[in-house]
Amino acid sequence: MGFKLQALCFSIFSCFFHKLCSAMDTISANQSIRDPGTLVSKGQKFKLGFFTPVNSTYRYVGIMYNIPVMTVIWVANRENPLNDANGTLLISGDGNLVILNGQKQMLWSSNVSNSIPNLSTQLLDTGNLVLQDNSNGNIVWESFLHASDSFVENMKLFTDLTTNKKNFLTSWRSPSDPAPGRFTSTIEPLEIPQYFVWLDNSPYWRSGPWDGQVFIGIPMMKSFHRAGLELVNDNQGYASMKFKYFNSSTLYIELNASGALQQMFRDDKTGDWTLTWSSISSECDVYAKCGPFGSCNAQDRPICSCLPGFEPKNDREWSGGNWTTGCLRRAPVLECGKNSSVGEVRKEDVFLRLETVKVPDRLSWLPSLEPECRSKCLDNCSCLAYSYHDGIGCMQWTESLIDVQKFSSGGTDLYIRLADSEIGNIKKKDRKAIIAAAVLVPVLIIVPLCTYFLWKYRAGRKQSAIRGAEKDPLNRNVYGVKLEELPFLEFETLSKATDSFDLHNKIGQGGFGPVYKGMLANGQEIAVKRLARSSNQGVVELMNEVEVISKLQHRNLVRLLGCCVEREENILVYEYMPNGSLDGYLFDSHGKGFLDWRQRVIIIEGICRGLLYLHRDSRLRIIHRDLKTSNILLDEELNSKISDFGMARIFGGKEDQANTTRVVGTYGYMAPEYALHGRFSEKSDVFSFGVLLLEIVSGRRNASFQYDEQTPSLIGYAWKLWNEGKIVELMDPLVHDLPTEKEIARYANVGLLCVEEIAKDRPSISTILSMLSNEISELPRPRQPAFTLNQRSPEIEKTPIKYSLNDISSTIIEGR
Ligand SMILES: *[C@@H]1O[C@H](CO)[C@@H](O)[C@H](O)[C@H]1NC(C)=O
Ligand SMILES: *[C@@H]1O[C@H](CO)[C@@H](O)[C@H](O)[C@H]1NC(C)=O
Ligand SMILES: *[C@@H]1O[C@H](CO)[C@@H](O)[C@H](O)[C@H]1NC(C)=O
Ligand SMILES: *[C@@H]1O[C@H](CO)[C@@H](O)[C@H](O)[C@H]1NC(C)=O
Ligand SMILES: *[C@@H]1O[C@H](CO)[C@@H](O)[C@H](O)[C@H]1NC(C)=O
Ligand SMILES: *[C@@H]1O[C@H](CO)[C@@H](O)[C@H](O)[C@H]1NC(C)=O
Ligand SMILES: *[C@@H]1O[C@H](CO)[C@@H](O)[C@H](O)[C@H]1NC(C)=O
Ligand SMILES: *[C@@H]1O[C@H](CO)[C@@H](O)[C@H](O)[C@H]1NC(C)=O
Ligand SMILES: *[C@@H]1O[C@H](CO)[C@@H](O)[C@H](O)[C@H]1NC(C)=O
Ligand SMILES: *[C@@H]1O[C@H](CO)[C@@H](O)[C@H](O)[C@H]1NC(C)=O
Ligand SMILES: *[C@@H]1O[C@H](CO)[C@@H](O)[C@H](O)[C@H]1NC(C)=O
Ligand SMILES: *[C@@H]1O[C@H](CO)[C@@H](O)[C@H](O)[C@H]1NC(C)=O
Repeated sequence: MGFKLQALCFSIFSCFFHKLCSAMDTISANQSIRDPGTLVSKGQKFKLGFFTPVNSTYRYVGIMYNIPVMTVIWVANRENPLNDANGTLLISGDGNLVILNGQKQMLWSSNVSNSIPNLSTQLLDTGNLVLQDNSNGNIVWESFLHASDSFVENMKLFTDLTTNKKNFLTSWRSPSDPAPGRFTSTIEPLEIPQYFVWLDNSPYWRSGPWDGQVFIGIPMMKSFHRAGLELVNDNQGYASMKFKYFNSSTLYIELNASGALQQMFRDDKTGDWTLTWSSISSECDVYAKCGPFGSCNAQDRPICSCLPGFEPKNDREWSGGNWTTGCLRRAPVLECGKNSSVGEVRKEDVFLRLETVKVPDRLSWLPSLEPECRSKCLDNCSCLAYSYHDGIGCMQWTESLIDVQKFSSGGTDLYIRLADSEIGNIKKKDRKAIIAAAVLVPVLIIVPLCTYFLWKYRAGRKQSAIRGAEKDPLNRNVYGVKLEELPFLEFETLSKATDSFDLHNKIGQGGFGPVYKGMLANGQEIAVKRLARSSNQGVVELMNEVEVISKLQHRNLVRLLGCCVEREENILVYEYMPNGSLDGYLFDSHGKGFLDWRQRVIIIEGICRGLLYLHRDSRLRIIHRDLKTSNILLDEELNSKISDFGMARIFGGKEDQANTTRVVGTYGYMAPEYALHGRFSEKSDVFSFGVLLLEIVSGRRNASFQYDEQTPSLIGYAWKLWNEGKIVELMDPLVHDLPTEKEIARYANVGLLCVEEIAKDRPSISTILSMLSNEISELPRPRQPAFTLNQRSPEIEKTPIKYSLNDISSTIIEGR
């Protein structure tokens, strides 16, 4: 990047008598800018003018940041430079923005056909140069839709296969020549989108698949808010990508002349750009460096090796350092579970797990859960490997395994298929990663797992259901299929891990019992939920929770690691979340920490994505029924995870609503139709989400809220402010990075739509996600929400409700 920035000709600053040099952002017809004139955007963020690249004598017209360090983000006449300083930029008689040289020859034109009489050109504060119709403001042409080599905030890159339109980056030919170089980069609207850099027409770099929040082949992109990209893929050939959270002109990505994407970040104080990420940080990042069935590890020497079970196709070339020929399978024919012709019995193929890798290119996606993903791969003889990743689901490969890279962390697990006979040849250290592919129990039958284990346990405790569980109780990836071997832990182990359930280790109180922090002998931290011994009602919920949660895998759902049913004890073991639950941050000013607005936005989005997965993507259609701040846990990076599935219900087939006689939930979060009539659906979760959203925005609890006589709830207060046009006052006053009034209004608007009285009027979670991310800009006006009136519905008052005002879920002994 360096050269291009620093050594540009600074002459455009020297602006003497020219009238148009004063900072203006617009030129209209019959006006022009002559070299060295400039346009400067209203907020002074960007400027447009003539420049000369380093070691060049030519002049170009470009858009650059309006800062001392020259940073060009867009060039008009890339292919036709001016060879003197007599250039002019103006709107021509044919309604186009054009560049003329001293001889009035046209070197560049925006080249749109239009017959609009009254046009003007404006440089916006986003860095976008627009040509617009003055009579109605319509944009006729804009530089953001004709990207050069830089991807800036507020800009959108896209590929639309149906119209064959694309907006993509093209590198400069060299740091001194802005002409289009050999590298381009595009977003590819595959089933699972990926971002590519191309060298001519061959792939040069690949991001790995998008999992809804990050590209999983970029280990640095750990948490989606860091890089903050938003990607839309409509599965019909359109995909687009833009920055999500930044709006400060301090970040952009450049495709440089040697084909590397470089993310540059500008420090507001020093004003310097620093390189915060580069797509090519080692040779391994170059596409297919090690050829088909090879794997690249930047930490190894040599960097290339063959995947286990494979050997170099051409030993001489391979050792000569030309790895692109790749590798071949050592046991030439995969047994593929078939018996050989002589009738000799052969074993089924096995899968070898490779951890933390960039998965190969050319994947196919299947709508399957993990155990199914494995068995489908096993059943399909052309399936070479599979992987199951949160947020993507089941990926399989059939052609070849190309562009595999081993990371030291990040990436995902890849399971490659090998003939059983290969096991002996695999290096000892890899052998533990081999898993039998056979599926012993029909995994799709929805049987409460603990029932299965309980039976197995009671039938013969001594033949422990989990071999090796004593040594490494939670290492469940070692043998067999995940669903089967959700570990069944011994009470002893858990008691030891929690110091005999010492009060000091108690970290919370769930709906049906206390939760303790614990540490296993191997150092792994766990959260242990011990269902109250007395509460018989808990067992149903326990089974339910195990059944539900063991099938779910998503970044925004807390993970169940095991269970224990022993000595009248019912215990669930989860991953431990060091930062506890959301209520501690929101409502307790001396609490664990404080959340600024950007963090709150991330938390809200996380909850939304978790819910979307439950309602739609997990294919089980699950209603959580007890969403509330104390059930939202936070990981170290403050990503939110939904927990406590004790009350969740799974819907099958077309069913989308159910009646229950056992109304469970938490006061303050329950939708009216559920509290009153026991009817629950996705929309009752949406109601709870709406309450949560308002609580996160305002930092106040709905249930214990008291503003005045007339407004006994946070919902009522929000509604009151909304109608008085003072919705900004809803914002938690402690937040320092205040969002714009518009943004506050958007969040409140969505929150109020979610808590509407009539369930079917509330938006679905996927709509909410689009509303929050601004994809839907015109939001419907909310109607009067439920529970805003002072007098609670008389029906509720008659029922013997055992609500507790703290946050513990209660059962209402009622039904219809
Ligand atoms: C530009 O100049 C021409 C001739 O002088 C005039 O007819 C036309 O109206 C002008 N256009 C604008 C937008 O001022
Ligand atoms: C510009 O030219 C000088 C002298 O030839 C050379 O040292 C320098 O590397 C060149 N810079 C670029 C960016 O090409
Ligand atoms: C172009 O500019 C140069 C000085 O940079 C001047 O000498 C020359 O006459 C100009 N040519 C035209 C056609 O205006
Ligand atoms: C202008 O656009 C037309 C089609 O839209 C194309 O054929 C022509 O080559 C373009 N001209 C230039 C100078 O780019
Ligand atoms: C062009 O539009 C601007 C803004 O609407 C107006 O002020 C101006 O008079 C118009 N000029 C012509 C020539 O129509
Ligand atoms: C970013 O800023 C621009 C103008 O400054 C504004 O139009 C745009 O809506 C902002 N985007 C977001 C996401 O806030
Ligand atoms: C492009 O970026 C890569 C990686 O950051 C760097 O090694 C290379 O020198 C850059 N190339 C140019 C021409 O700036
Ligand atoms: C590596 O081998 C391939 C295929 O034999 C050949 O096309 C390529 O040019 C070789 N590359 C190098 C750097 O020798
Ligand atoms: C392989 O042979 C065994 C023993 O004859 C038989 O039980 C098994 O079903 C055969 N498997 C296949 C896939 O044909
Ligand atoms: C095997 O998988 C590939 C890719 O998913 C698919 O195209 C093919 O139809 C499958 N074959 C069988 C027999 O299922
Ligand atoms: C979250 O937990 C981590 C690890 O315990 C801690 O370092 C960090 O400060 C916590 N974050 C906040 C915002 O409290
Ligand atoms: C639930 O009850 C209502 C009336 O009480 C009835 O109309 C509806 O069909 C019932 N729904 C289901 C799924 O049973």
